[in-house]
Amino acid sequence: MKIDVLTLFPEMFSGVLSTSMLGRAREKGILDVSLHNIREYSQSKHKNTDDYPFGGGAGMVMMPQPIFSCLDAVDPRHEALRIVFTPRGATLSVSMAQEFAGKERLLLLCGHYEGIDERAMEQMDCELSIGDYVLTGGELPAMVLIDCVSRFIPGVLGSSVSAEEESFSTGLLEYPQYTRPADYRGMAVPEVLLSGNHAHIARWRREESLKLTWRRRPELIAALDEGELDKRDREFLARLKNQEK
Ligand SMILES: C[S@@+](CC[C@H](N)C(=O)[O-])C[C@H]1O[C@@H](n2cnc3c(N)ncnc32)[C@H](O)[C@@H]1O
Repeated sequence: MKIDVLTLFPEMFSGVLSTSMLGRAREKGILDVSLHNIREYSQSKHKNTDDYPFGGGAGMVMMPQPIFSCLDAVDPRHEALRIVFTPRGATLSVSMAQEFAGKERLLLLCGHYEGIDERAMEQMDCELSIGDYVLTGGELPAMVLIDCVSRFIPGVLGSSVSAEEESFSTGLLEYPQYTRPADYRGMAVPEVLLSGNHAHIARWRREESLKLTWRRRPELIAALDEGELDKRDREFLARLKNQEK
């Protein structure tokens, strides 16, 4: 996948893009990320990229010209799916990440200061937020998006790991995980995990997932389709609800 990032601060990306799974995905050529410094496209003498807001008010607004020129240079035929980060956008979800992972090309526009001139916003296909809080810029949201989309690109995660089996992809939160030693400072790992009985382990994991999701994110259980819970799941949830009444 090719991802173009339009930003005023390309230097913010270096650690995230060169480390761990993303670093390896780029080395293998599965992920091709190009950073474009919007400032280099400014036609003003001092390479300005922001100006005062019409109508007054605090802060500065990113000017349209450098963004339009950068878009013209990077994606002249509008072939990429263009995403801009803004608190007013739709909140990023695992289903969106899966959908984006199926695209050949993404273009990410990172805002800064008070935001972006609306005429530049209108050149984008999709407005995305990463949550109900305000960050200083769109660079961290862009890194969040690159990371979570990459997990759905074949070859990015090791072959034994599947993004499809993790929290949210199954509609539930993930069950607790343990590793060696089996007893640490008197805290023992649940016995079933040491039993070698795969059916029992799968059932224990399923019920722990249901329990955690029911307690922490009951709206996720309510949103599950009819077929996503079998008879045993429904009986388990009914018992849980009774116990916790
Ligand atoms: C300080 S914010 C601007 C906030 C804007 N004035 C508002 O009240 O909605 C600067 C930039 O950070 C990015 N940003 C901040 N919070 C974000 C969030 N929760 N999700 C996505 N992008 C965000 C956007 O690109 C935004 O243009």
